[in-house]
This record gives sequence, C-alpha cells and structure tokens, in this order.
Amino acid sequence: MAIFPIRTFGDPVLRAKAEPVDPIDERVRRLVEDMIETMYDAPGVGLAAPQIGVSKQVFVFDAGEGPKVVINPMLVETSGEWEFEEGCLSVPGYFWPIRRAAFARVTGWDEHGREVEYAGDELLGRVLQHEYDHLQGMLLLERLAPDVRKEALRHLRERTLGLGS
Ligand code: NI
Repeated sequence: MAIFPIRTFGDPVLRAKAEPVDPIDERVRRLVEDMIETMYDAPGVGLAAPQIGVSKQVFVFDAGEGPKVVINPMLVETSGEWEFEEGCLSVPGYFWPIRRAAFARVTGWDEHGREVEYAGDELLGRVLQHEYDHLQGMLLLERLAPDVRKEALRHLRERTLGLGS
C-alpha cells in the first residue's frame, strides 16, 4: 500500500471524464488499497481515482461505517435539495455552501466484482454525489452559483500562479 500525493485544482486529470474499469483485477484492487490509505491519511471522507492521477471510474469513501468502494458507479436516483458547506481535498483550504440533491442512490461494483448499492441523505448522499462528480471531471466549483464561482476561480488562479496569498 502507498500514500499518493493528491492532485489539486489546475491539474488536467481532474477535468477529464474517467475511463470505465474492465476487468476488475488485481491491479484495481491495489489501486483501491492505495486510495483508501491516501483518503485516511489526508484525511478525507471520500477520494476519487483522478485525485491521485488515475483517470479510472473508481471512488472510495467512509461516511462513518468503514471504507467503501464503488467502481463504474451509476447515479441512479436523486431527490430533494440541500445546501451544505462542502470542501474538497483537491481544492484544499476552501469551503463553500453547495446546493445538491438531499438524497442520492449509487450502484456499481466493489473491488471483487460484486454489485454494490449505496443510498442515503445527509453526509452519505453528499459524498456519493461529490465523488461521482469527480469521475465526470467535475469539481465542486462547478456547483457554485455563477457569481460565487467567478470569485472563487479568480482567487484560486491567483493562488496557483503565486500572485495571491
Ligand atoms: Ni473532492
């Protein structure tokens, strides 16, 4: 197992749609182990493969019941609406109120090729949607209201270029 550096805003891997995983083999199981270790080390409640530079459809999370793995996830159901303060390991140091569905259901496969399904509201629903977005090449910035997003991007670009504080 290994801890990987987490890619941050500005890295193109975070903007790419991740590739489906096939087959689910030993390589994928090693990737999942590394992702879980990296997530706990960060620490974070979720991590998507592109965040360690691997453009594959895999995410891991721990919403309080131990580490869970979803490969080739499908977001099959959402309902309601909930605004909540949200951050991302790839945009460290920032939190914004983000509006998302209150409830989400995701299906997919685990690292042994077994079908899995996770559904819930509050933290679990939020993490499922956030990590699913990562695999579509989408950061939480794209969920911000246009004016808030513009200001956030200006701030981040300045910081990335070393012009801001
Ligand atoms: Ni994130």
